[in-house]
Amino acid sequence: MNESPTTIRQEVPFFRPSITQDEIDEVVACLQSGWLTTGPRVKQFEADLAAAVGAKYAVAVNSCTAALHLAVEALGLMPGDAVLVPTMTFAATAEVVRYLGALPLLVDCDPATFNLDLNDAARKIEDLRAGRTPLDRNAKVVGIMPVHVGGLMMDMTAVQAFAAERGLWIVEDAAHALPAAYRADADAPWRQCGENTAAVTCFSFYANKTITTGEGGMAVTDDQVLADRMRQMSLHGLSHDAWKRFAGGRVWDYQIVAPGFKYNLTDIAAALGIHQLRRAESLRAERQRIAEEYRRLLAGVEQLELPPMQVNRVHAWHLFPIRLRLEKLDIDRNAFIDALRERGVGCSVHWRPLHLHPYYRETFGWKPEHLPVASAEWTRTISLPLFPGMRAEERRHVVRSVRELCAARAKA
Ligand SMILES: Cc1ncc(COP(=O)(O)O)c(C=O)c1O
Repeated sequence: MNESPTTIRQEVPFFRPSITQDEIDEVVACLQSGWLTTGPRVKQFEADLAAAVGAKYAVAVNSCTAALHLAVEALGLMPGDAVLVPTMTFAATAEVVRYLGALPLLVDCDPATFNLDLNDAARKIEDLRAGRTPLDRNAKVVGIMPVHVGGLMMDMTAVQAFAAERGLWIVEDAAHALPAAYRADADAPWRQCGENTAAVTCFSFYANKTITTGEGGMAVTDDQVLADRMRQMSLHGLSHDAWKRFAGGRVWDYQIVAPGFKYNLTDIAAALGIHQLRRAESLRAERQRIAEEYRRLLAGVEQLELPPMQVNRVHAWHLFPIRLRLEKLDIDRNAFIDALRERGVGCSVHWRPLHLHPYYRETFGWKPEHLPVASAEWTRTISLPLFPGMRAEERRHVVRSVRELCAARAKA
């Protein structure tokens, strides 16, 4: 740990997928089977994932964004309705609300976890009615879309109580949270993300997610009506019988019953997913070990705050976001990222909050002061590389680079 930065040159990517020979063999077997699109492997992946998270129904699609879109469509979201959406999230969570012509009522984040702050959600509903948000004060608030940022679950018991009191549906954006679990307190039973934690829970299998199919997603639910609607709309709004096409039934006849979408997953992708899912817990455990190592080796660096660990959570550790104590440094977050890049360390930021993007600012008039916690916190957050298969020297290089940079740029 005593080399100077100029003597060390090592590239550490932000993420590198973990793909085994079994997975490659299964993709090859799929290609050789002649069945490339939705078929037996998708059916198996759906059944396996539903069983793994404890859900009754699972609909495989080609992204988490598609799953979120199908969920809000199936729940009957109407133009002009409002949905509570955290501002601290990726584009997808809010854009699907816009697909239906509805309004994202943006909610600030909890400063410790970056997850949606339920107190602010209650406040935002009051603000809406009082005309203190940029949205139409008469908009009907119909739903809430929690995001488990980085894989640290919200207390879904609290979210469910909040939603039940106000007659809202819940669509859970669980893009980071497979596998993850929570319990409301030490006496409560553990619940997996997707185990009836929302009307619909949506997972992502994008290339850098906790398990991957390259591109892919899954919507899980215990509600058969929602599952049927999502399945139908995921394939052009074709009648149920159309799915027999994928089971070798009467292939030439189908009926269009709604103007649906083209969101179905391929068997090639599911071939990867079936095997990745079997490894989901061991991949998570490996990420947790790396996160614990980072926490141990970065503890006590005055210029940093480390991501929280909570006893009543099984953390998916999709991300390892550190926060800079900017008042103790003579450079800002962007310069810190540039300096890490110079040392070969790939980083990312999760996220520029939605209200600071031109579309949400200009279309609706959201301002930084509407969402003060996210407005401030995002300027000092950096996600460090964290992925299974990260080599010891790569982990050491990340720690050494961060420590050296903090020491070199510490304010006197
Ligand atoms: C919180 C969140 N939701 C949704 C998505 C969208 O996932 P997908 O790329 O599978 O559509 C992402 C992707 O990064 C995400 O981070």
